Amino acid sequence: MEPASGRGALLLLATLFAGCTSASPETSWERAPPLFNVSLDSPPEERWVPLLQRFDPRFLLQTMEHILSSAVPKWVQVLLRPISDLEVELLIRQPYAGELKGMAKAMGFSAGDALMLNLCYEVTAYCTSIIAQDCKGHIYHGRNLDYPFGNALRNLTIDVNFVKDGKIAYTGTTFVGYVGLWTGQKPHQFSISGDERDAGQWWENAIAALWKRSTLVSWLVRDTLSEAEDFQAAVLSLSKTPIIADVYYIVGGIAPNEGVVITRDRSGPADIWPLDPLNGWWFRVETNYDHWTTPPPFDDRRTPANKAMNATGQQNINLDTLYEVLSVRPVLNNSTVYTTIMSAAVPDQYRTRLRTLILGSSKRLGDGRQVGRKDGRHI
Ligand SMILES: *[C@@H]1O[C@H](CO)[C@@H](O)[C@H](O)[C@H]1NC(C)=O
Ligand SMILES: *[C@@H]1O[C@H](CO)[C@@H](O)[C@H](O)[C@H]1NC(C)=O
Ligand SMILES: *[C@@H]1O[C@H](CO)[C@@H](O)[C@H](O)[C@H]1NC(C)=O
Ligand SMILES: *[C@@H]1O[C@H](CO)[C@@H](O)[C@H](O)[C@H]1NC(C)=O
Ligand SMILES: *[C@@H]1O[C@H](CO)[C@@H](O)[C@H](O)[C@H]1NC(C)=O
Repeated sequence: MEPASGRGALLLLATLFAGCTSASPETSWERAPPLFNVSLDSPPEERWVPLLQRFDPRFLLQTMEHILSSAVPKWVQVLLRPISDLEVELLIRQPYAGELKGMAKAMGFSAGDALMLNLCYEVTAYCTSIIAQDCKGHIYHGRNLDYPFGNALRNLTIDVNFVKDGKIAYTGTTFVGYVGLWTGQKPHQFSISGDERDAGQWWENAIAALWKRSTLVSWLVRDTLSEAEDFQAAVLSLSKTPIIADVYYIVGGIAPNEGVVITRDRSGPADIWPLDPLNGWWFRVETNYDHWTTPPPFDDRRTPANKAMNATGQQNINLDTLYEVLSVRPVLNNSTVYTTIMSAAVPDQYRTRLRTLILGSSKRLGDGRQVGRKDGRHI
């Protein structure tokens, strides 16, 4: 993945954006998350257990307790904490019910806690996703995932190959204990990322929809990776299936023009925004605001991302330059947990990096690796 033609653009970018960063020193680190196989040929209750055994159970329990208590409203805890394994099975379908039960058992949690944990990762995913097409029609897809519990989550972030019949059925990036995917790729078919769309009253709406057996937003990503045959089928599935909350789905394919941002209401699509390279729209940036509105000045990651894409140019876009765009402040900021870049046509280029950006500090982080040295784990 050596950028052949991107260097000039990168230098230009560095110059352009040097002026935007704060005057105080900042440090930034990246490292690769661990990669695991999860076997879809094993029963749902068992398939995550080998992976869980690779983590310190005390660390898992503490982190999850912390996330639960700081993110889940009291009334939801009162409602969901006592529900039994059986009720989980009535409320949610397979394979998720079985996976949640199996994980909860392995970690010493109740199934209700595991469900709450999975819900609270649904509510707080602030993100930037970009889909782009180069001059030859190749499609590139990148995303930053930002979370308020960033520090705890970096050590829970994993890349997973979901293996079926000895082959990688799909790949995704997730957190230990979380069965859904916000980022994933079906080899030689399509890639998907999800960005939160906050419509207010999140918990009230989500719990009501859950009781009507609607799907979690991140489960629809996984269902689609698992079941959709190609880009078109993926777009259809992500557009029409009822889900528990509003969201943006960004989808990339393998052929020219196969790129789209789907703005979702819980019941169906609110808007479909495709690439339109013939008219100059060779990329689309989606953060957490409807693309037809102006992002609020206190959280405008869209304009800097658009500028950086324009400065890069269609002739220079590739996975490496896309990663650089996702590293521009404040697109990358101190709540960014990870960056993933992918291109379904070349599945082995799927790459996730955990990000740490410390603003106004020159403190070293013990376990990191300075940005720019990309010698982490390759899959
Ligand atoms: C970082 O991004 C998040 C959303 O992803 C935003 O809410 C927050 O304001 C940003 N922080 C800074 C310091 O820019
Ligand atoms: C995360 O993991 C790294 C290295 O494995 C470790 O040094 C660090 O303390 C951990 N951070 C947290 C918050 O557990
Ligand atoms: C993961 O699964 C793939 C596909 O079956 C296989 O080639 C690879 O060796 C597996 N890796 C591990 C660590 O088991
Ligand atoms: C990027 O370029 C497009 C097309 O020239 C232009 O419409 C848009 O305003 C530019 N965006 C930014 C943020 O510079
Ligand atoms: C993130 O950056 C903001 C703005 O610079 C700062 O107020 C906040 O304390 C930072 N958060 C962390 C976790 O470093």
